[in-house]
Amino acid sequence: MTMKQVRVGIVGFGTVGRATADIIVKHADLIAHRSGVRLVVTAVCRRSSVQPQDTPAGACAVADWRRLLKDPNVDVVVETMGGTGESLELLRSSLEQGKPVVTANKNLLAEHGDELFRLAASHNLPIGFEASVAGGIPILRVIHESTAGDRLRSVHGILNGTANYILTQMESRGIEFAEALSEAQAAGFAEADPSFDIDGQDARDKLCILARMAFEGRLDVAHIPTCGIRHVRAIDIHSATRLDSTIRLVGSAEQTDAGLEVSVRPWLVSRRSMLAKVEGVNNAVFLVGDKIGTQMFYGRGAGGDATGSAVVSDLIEIARDFAAGQMNAKNISGFLSSRELVLSDRPKPASWYLRLTVKDQRGIVARVAEVIAREAINIDSLEQEPHLPKDRVSFVITVEPVSEPVIRRAVDTINGFDFMVEPVLLLRMEE
Ligand SMILES: NC(=O)c1ccc[n+]([C@@H]2O[C@H](COP(=O)([O-])OP(=O)(O)OC[C@H]3O[C@@H](n4cnc5c(N)ncnc54)[C@H](OP(=O)(O)O)[C@@H]3O)[C@@H](O)[C@H]2O)c1
Repeated sequence: MTMKQVRVGIVGFGTVGRATADIIVKHADLIAHRSGVRLVVTAVCRRSSVQPQDTPAGACAVADWRRLLKDPNVDVVVETMGGTGESLELLRSSLEQGKPVVTANKNLLAEHGDELFRLAASHNLPIGFEASVAGGIPILRVIHESTAGDRLRSVHGILNGTANYILTQMESRGIEFAEALSEAQAAGFAEADPSFDIDGQDARDKLCILARMAFEGRLDVAHIPTCGIRHVRAIDIHSATRLDSTIRLVGSAEQTDAGLEVSVRPWLVSRRSMLAKVEGVNNAVFLVGDKIGTQMFYGRGAGGDATGSAVVSDLIEIARDFAAGQMNAKNISGFLSSRELVLSDRPKPASWYLRLTVKDQRGIVARVAEVIAREAINIDSLEQEPHLPKDRVSFVITVEPVSEPVIRRAVDTINGFDFMVEPVLLLRMEE
C-alpha cells in the first residue's frame, strides 16, 4: 500500500520557514515511519527570490502567497512570515479555501486569535500554533492535553530568549545594557530593531496565549501590564548580586481569589531559584496546578531548528487527520469561549526593589524614607553604591510586602522630587 502524502506550502522562507523545510526533507523517512504519513514540501514563498539550491527538491518557489494558496498541490499552509497584516489575510484566505494552517506567529494570534479560531471552527479546520510560544518547548500541547485533568493556578516563566541573553551577559560580565544589546545583535540573537524583545511585547504576546490556554477565557493582550528591561543597569545586577539575587524578565499569569494577576516585567529572583538558573537564550515555563504541583519546562525558546521542529509537530498532527479524512478544529477554549478572564483589582502584596538615581544633596534619604513611611511601607534594606559621581548617585531600597498600587503611589511621589535624575527602577521581588 502506498503511503498517503500530505503536501505542504510554506509562506515566509526565512529562519523558521527554511528550518521547517529542512526538517521535513531530512527527517522525511523518520516522520513517515512514525506517523504513517509522508510530508512533502511542494511550494515555498517569499517576496525576494529563492535560489534553486535552497528550494526543496520538487517544490516551486513563488513571490506571492496568493499563488501558493491557489496551488492544488498544497494541502496544508505554514505561515512563517510574521507580522499581522498580510499574515492575517493569508490565514483568513487559507481557512476560507479549506486549507488547514500552521503558524509560528504569536503576535498575530495574540491580536487576532479570536477571529481566526472562530473562522477555523466554522470551517472545521485546525490551526497549529505550538511554535508561537517558547520555540521548541511543547508547552501548548502540555496545557491543552497533558494537564487537561487538572486545575491550573499559575503559568509563568522566561518567555523571551533575547532579553534573557542580555540579562545573563550583563550578569556574567558586568557589562552595561547597551553593550550587551549590541553584542546580542552582532551574535544574531537580537533584531536590528530590538524593541519587541527588550520592551516586553514579545513575551506579552506569548503570555497572552499561555494564559488563554491555561485559564480558558479571552484576554485582551492590551490589558497585560508590560515593562521590559531597557532601564536595567549594570548597577542593578550588582545590587541584585549583593542581595543574593539576579534579574530576569518574567511573564506571569496567576489565578487568585480576586481574579487573574497578569504582567510582564523584570523580577529580582533569588540566585537559588530555578528562574535564575535559566541562562542565555533559553526559555523556561512553569505550570502550577492543584494536582500536578509545580512543573518546569525548559529549553531553546527560539531559533530556526527548535521552532521549525514545533511547526513540524503540528504538521504531523494535522497530516494524520488529513490523511484519514478526519479534519477537525481543535476546541481551543481560550479563544473560542465567550468568557472573558477577569483581571484582579486587588493584587497580592509583594516585596519590591527600588533603585533611585539622584543628584547628591543633603536630606535625600530622609525625604524618600518619609514618603515610604507615609504609605505604611516597611523598608527592609537601604544601600548606597559607593564611589559614584555626585551628580549621579544611586541607592537601592528593598521593602517588605505591599500591593503594587501602594508602592506605585510612593514611587510616583518620589519621581516628582527635583533631585531625581531618572525615574525609579521598580522591580518585583520573587516570593
Ligand atoms: N526566529 C525565531 O527564532 C522564531 C521563534 C518563534 C517564532 N518565530 C516567529 O516565526 C515567524 C517568522 O520568523 P523568522 O525569524 O523566520 O523571520 P524571518 O527570518 O524574517 O523570515 C520571514 C520570511 O518571510 C518572508 N516574508 C515576509 N513578508 C512576506 C510577504 N508579505 N509575502 C511573502 N513572504 C514574506 C521574508 O522574505 P521576504 O522579505 O523576501 O519576503 C522571509 O523569508 C514570526 O512570526 C516570528 O515571530 C520566530
